[in-house]
Amino acid sequence: MNHYLFKVAYFKSITIPKMNSNALTFLLLLAIFFNACRESTPVPLYDIQKKITADSAIVVSAHPLASEVGTEVMKEGGNAVDAAIAIQFALAVVYPRAGNIGGGGFMVIRQQNGNIDALDYREKAPLAANRDMYLDQEKNVIDSLSKYGHLAVGVPGTVAGMFAAHAKYGQIKDIKRLIQPAIKLAALGFAVTETEANRLNKFRDTIAKINILPNPFVKTTPWKAGDKLVQPELAQTLQLIHNQGQAGFYEGKTAEKFVAEIQRGNGIITKADLAQYQAKWRTPVTGDYKDYKIISMPPPSSGGVALIQLLKIMENYPLSEYGFHSPTAIHLMAEAERRVYADRAEHLGDSDFYDVPVDSLISTAYLKERMLTFDEQKVTPSDSILGGAFELGLESFETTHTSVIDPMGNAVSVTTTLNSNYGSKVVVNGAGFFLNNEMDDFSAKPGVPNQFGLVGAEANAIQPQKRMLSSMTPTIVEKDGKVFMVLGAPGGSTIITAVFQVFTNVAEFGMGLQPAVNAKRFHHQWLPDEILVEEETLSDATRQELASKGHQFREVKRMAVIKAIHVLPNGKLVGVGDPRNPDDDVAGF
Ligand code: DON
Repeated sequence: MNHYLFKVAYFKSITIPKMNSNALTFLLLLAIFFNACRESTPVPLYDIQKKITADSAIVVSAHPLASEVGTEVMKEGGNAVDAAIAIQFALAVVYPRAGNIGGGGFMVIRQQNGNIDALDYREKAPLAANRDMYLDQEKNVIDSLSKYGHLAVGVPGTVAGMFAAHAKYGQIKDIKRLIQPAIKLAALGFAVTETEANRLNKFRDTIAKINILPNPFVKTTPWKAGDKLVQPELAQTLQLIHNQGQAGFYEGKTAEKFVAEIQRGNGIITKADLAQYQAKWRTPVTGDYKDYKIISMPPPSSGGVALIQLLKIMENYPLSEYGFHSPTAIHLMAEAERRVYADRAEHLGDSDFYDVPVDSLISTAYLKERMLTFDEQKVTPSDSILGGAFELGLESFETTHTSVIDPMGNAVSVTTTLNSNYGSKVVVNGAGFFLNNEMDDFSAKPGVPNQFGLVGAEANAIQPQKRMLSSMTPTIVEKDGKVFMVLGAPGGSTIITAVFQVFTNVAEFGMGLQPAVNAKRFHHQWLPDEILVEEETLSDATRQELASKGHQFREVKRMAVIKAIHVLPNGKLVGVGDPRNPDDDVAGF
C-alpha cells in the first residue's frame, strides 16, 4: 500500500483511488517528507573520478574543472604541453590556494620521440634581497617574515613559464586559446568544493587582515560547498595576459598594481624584478634504476636528485623480498631517506649560484659509500651524520601537481605552487591574484628550519635573483624506451619520499597504480630524527620492531598528494588521483 501511495505522489497521471481524508492527509505528509529528504540530499558538485583507464589521453589534476579544460584542449588537437598550460591557468582560478599566476613551478616533458626537457619557472629572490633579510639585530630568524605578507614574496615565474613552454612545444597555434577557459571561469565564477570552502574559512582572518577589502575570497558568512567564487579582477588580469602576452603580467598595468601592493606592505619587489624575470630550460636529471629510467627535475629542485639517490641506494638491496611495509623495508628506506635529506641540506641549491655536485651525488660509488654506516639492527642517529635539531611544523601548506599524456604519446609532469595555502596570503589589490611565500624555501640562517622543518646552509642561502631550493619532484619514468609512469605531488618535504614510495609500490611491490597511490606512507627527512607516519600505517608489531632499532615516530593525518599515470603493457593509460585530496580528478578519452 505504501509503495502505491508513494508512486501516486510522484506520478500525477496515475488515477488516485477513492480514500478518506485521513488517508489523503497521510499521503500529503508522506509526499512532503519525501520531497524534504530529496532536497537535503547534497547533489555532488562535480563528477569526480579517482581512477580511469583511457585509450589515448589522460589528465590527473587537483580540480575537475581543470581536468576538463585539459582534456578539451587535447580533443582539439593540442598536445600535453598545451593541456598543461591551459590547466595551469585554470587552476589559478579554481584552485586559488595553490594554482597560481603569482607563484612558480617546474615542468618535465618527454616527447613521443623520446626527447626530454625540463622547464624551470621557479620564483627568484628580488634584486634587493640579502642573506640576512629575515634576521633581527641579534641574528635570530624572525619567523613570520618569510611566511606571511609582502616580504615573503619571490618574483613569480608562472606566466613566463607558460609562454616559454608554449613557444617551444605548443601545438595549438595561439596561446590565447589556452588562457580563455581561465578567463571565463574567473569572470563567470564557479562553485567551490567543500575542501576549498573549508580552506577559505580557515584562512579568512589572515587574508582579511593582510589585504585591502573587499576581495572575493573574504565573505561575511562562512563559505560552504556550492557557493560561487567570482573573480572579476583576476579575469581582467588574465585578459591582459591574453591580449598582451607575458608583458600583460610583467609590465604595464599589472606590474604597476603588483609593485603598488608590494610597497603597501613594505616588500621589496620592484618593476625591474618583474621585467627581468625569465623562465629557464634545464637538462632533466636522469638515472637508471634496474629496467627503469627516471627523468626528473634538476636544481633548483632537490626532488630529482634525491629521488634518484634513493632508488640507486635501493638497487643494492632485495627490497621486494623484504615485503611492503615490513620492518626491514621501512628501516632500510628510512635510513636511506635520512642520508639523502642530509645531503639535500648540505649540497642542494640553485645551480646558477652554487656548484651543486649532481653527478657525484647520484653516482653509484658515492651512494654505496654513503650506506657504509647503515646498520640493519639499529638507526644511525642523524646527529652522527650532520649536526642540528629543531621542531618540524607541517601545518598548512599547499602545492599542486598535474600529470598528462596526450594522444600522440607526449608526457608532461608539472608541479606548481604558492608554497603555503594561498601563499603569503597577499592578494594584489586590483589585480585579483595571490602572491607566493616561496622565500621561506631559502635557508634564512644555516641550521634553522623552514616551515617544512628543512634546514640548509650556504648552498641555499638568500642571494638576489637566486632561486630558492624546492622539493617538488615532477617525474616521468621510462621502461624499455617507453613512458611507464608520470607522477608528482604537492606536500613540501614529503613530496620526494611520496614519489619514491609510490614508484616502489608499483615497481617493487607489484601493486596496481591505485593501491600504490592510496597506500599509507612514511617519511624521514634527517632532521628531526624521527619517522613521520600517516595514521594507521604501522601494525603494533612493526612499530615495536622499528622502535627496538631506535626509531621514533610522529603521526600525521596525511602527507603528499600524488597524481599519477601508469602506462600498461597493452598501451592503455591508467590515471589515479589521490584520496588525500577529495578534489583530485582524472579525466581522459
Ligand atoms: O618548492 C617546494 O618544495 C615547496 N614550496 C612546496 C610546497 C608544497 O608542496 C606545499 N604543498 N603541499
